[in-house]
Amino acid sequence: MALRTILTQGDPVLNKRAHAVTSFDSKLHDLIDDMRETLTDAEGLGLAAPQIGILRRVVIVINEKDEMLELVNPEIIDQSGEQEGLEGCLSVPGYYGEVKRPAWVKVRAQDRNGNFFEVEGTEMTARCFCHELAHLEGQLYTEIATRMYTVEELDEMLEREREKEEKRQ
Ligand code: NI
Repeated sequence: MALRTILTQGDPVLNKRAHAVTSFDSKLHDLIDDMRETLTDAEGLGLAAPQIGILRRVVIVINEKDEMLELVNPEIIDQSGEQEGLEGCLSVPGYYGEVKRPAWVKVRAQDRNGNFFEVEGTEMTARCFCHELAHLEGQLYTEIATRMYTVEELDEMLEREREKEEKRQ
């Protein structure tokens, strides 16, 4: 296994559509293992193969049970509701954005051996599925964010909210 370099916004690879995986071989397994290691090292919640420069339809998502899900050729097959919240991306360091996403999504994908399965997610996991699958289309959340914040702005905002909360008590 090896740590891979995470590409950042401005790298043209991040705006390209990824290709379907057709061989579920040791090369794919090595890629997935490297993605797991890279995501753990970066302390993120999700990673898509294009973020490490590989234009293949592979993503990894950590769900609310702290399980690392491997999704090959994933597709959103159902969704409902809406949630608005903050989102970040390992390819856009130092920023967060307000993004609208479905409240619930159902995803159909293949595992590393090519077996099909379905998985559902709400809250952060639904958000994460949508965010990572968008990477496979070459889309970053910054394109759909209703508002962007720097880490500093976000810290200030949270501090102000804490102060307001304290005054209320
Ligand atoms: Ni991302």
